[in-house]
Amino acid sequence: MRRTTVKAALTSPSPCPEIRVMGWVRTRRDAKGFSFLEINDGSCLSNLQIVIDDAVEGAALVKELGTGASVAVTGELIASPGKGQRYEVRAIALELLGPADPETYPLQKKRHSDEFLRTIAHLRPRTNKYGAMLRIRSALAHGIHAYFAEHGFALVHTPVITGSDCEGAGEMFRVTSLGPEAATLSAAERVSQDFFGKEAMLTVSGQLSAEPLACALGRVYTFGPTFRAEHSDTSRHAAEFWMLEPEMAFADLADNMDLAESLVTHLVRLIMDECAEDFGLFAKYVDPTLPATLENLLANPFVRLPYGEAVDILAASSRKFQYPVSFGLDLQSEHERYLAEEHFKRPVIVYDYPKDIKAFYMRQNDDGRTVAAMDVLVPGIGELVGGSAREERLDRLEGRIRELGLPLEAYWWYLDTRRFGTVPHAGFGLGFERLMMLVTGIGNIRDVMAFPRTWRHLEF
Ligand code: 4AD
Ligand code: MG
Repeated sequence: MRRTTVKAALTSPSPCPEIRVMGWVRTRRDAKGFSFLEINDGSCLSNLQIVIDDAVEGAALVKELGTGASVAVTGELIASPGKGQRYEVRAIALELLGPADPETYPLQKKRHSDEFLRTIAHLRPRTNKYGAMLRIRSALAHGIHAYFAEHGFALVHTPVITGSDCEGAGEMFRVTSLGPEAATLSAAERVSQDFFGKEAMLTVSGQLSAEPLACALGRVYTFGPTFRAEHSDTSRHAAEFWMLEPEMAFADLADNMDLAESLVTHLVRLIMDECAEDFGLFAKYVDPTLPATLENLLANPFVRLPYGEAVDILAASSRKFQYPVSFGLDLQSEHERYLAEEHFKRPVIVYDYPKDIKAFYMRQNDDGRTVAAMDVLVPGIGELVGGSAREERLDRLEGRIRELGLPLEAYWWYLDTRRFGTVPHAGFGLGFERLMMLVTGIGNIRDVMAFPRTWRHLEF
């Protein structure tokens, strides 16, 4: 007999004389003559209640079933007389698929700390919170692909192994096929003997590859893992994270901001509407202010604020920042959060940043000191999106690469897109985990990914 998921059983249009469900036991309660099991199979947040009469086939097993054991149940789906669920299953036969020793199975208590659960990342998806998180993560990824398909963007796959540092921040992981025996070689020997015969790294951003594709297909997006060897042990930085990067030809900074705002609001609404049950868990147990924060995000347009004005607001505020701000300094997360959370109380798009704190590819403004960059800052997180109009003028771009002392030859292919039929274009990168933090209220990036990789942490 085919398996019915718990979700399908609970949303069944009618009772059913015989179904087969499988799942993990969450709780067991014994009464006189029968037992109740709550099972969960990950298809939804809710458990399915199973009623097992002592007379049914396999009932002798019940008294040994602990939290975490896996079972298969054949039975009748009936309207539940109990409160809190529409249906329950009256078991006809019960099979034990795999026991879980209550002495050693770590998920016994109802609530464990996030810190403890991180040490058992292979088991935490079986808890309500992490199950809900992973279903929302999946819905968000599907929502992203649907949004871009609807808006005429081609999905492109950009490489993970790269020869160039897109952001120029030097925070890259090296890729090598050489073993420890290469330790005695000189640097030049190592490079020449290595797999590619040149230095190879894990990409920090797909942008440099997405640009030539946008300058051929018009509108593209890439959505994949990116890697940063930043030693920042914060709640918002991971060494491996997913970045969504749309890139549009024939577009400027205003188009870029419009896209970012439309995308973020669309996805927030999607999660609130279509993942209502899972979202409800976060609103109830993780951050009670979450629904109001997100409703507010949906109700008001994002603020658009030149960097210079952002600095003025920060300088004029009575708040004592750890890093005082003046024109030319990069905004820290304390500044970003002050703007979005306290001053404007909604998302803020800061644009036209000083060129000296931004990457080489950003389009230079006529004032000679700023570039057409934009960051979307959101309450609770700070920077969610970073992007820009791209410098499409060959001479300006070459000038900037030289000025920054970057190897011009290495960018020959990138410069070709400006040499032949250059067009104004723009794009951005959205940190997928940070978006997850926004829609769930989860405060630590380690808890919005299944198996986080962070500074000094690579367990699973
Ligand atoms: O602002 P970033 O560095 O922008 C770029 O990499 C551009 N090349 C993107 C583009 O224009 N196509 O990174 C983009 C976003 C950030 O706004 C942030 O949300 C996220 O990526 N991000 C991180 N998320 C988790 N952990 C980290 N270490 C992150 N670094 C950046
Ligand atoms: Mg950035």
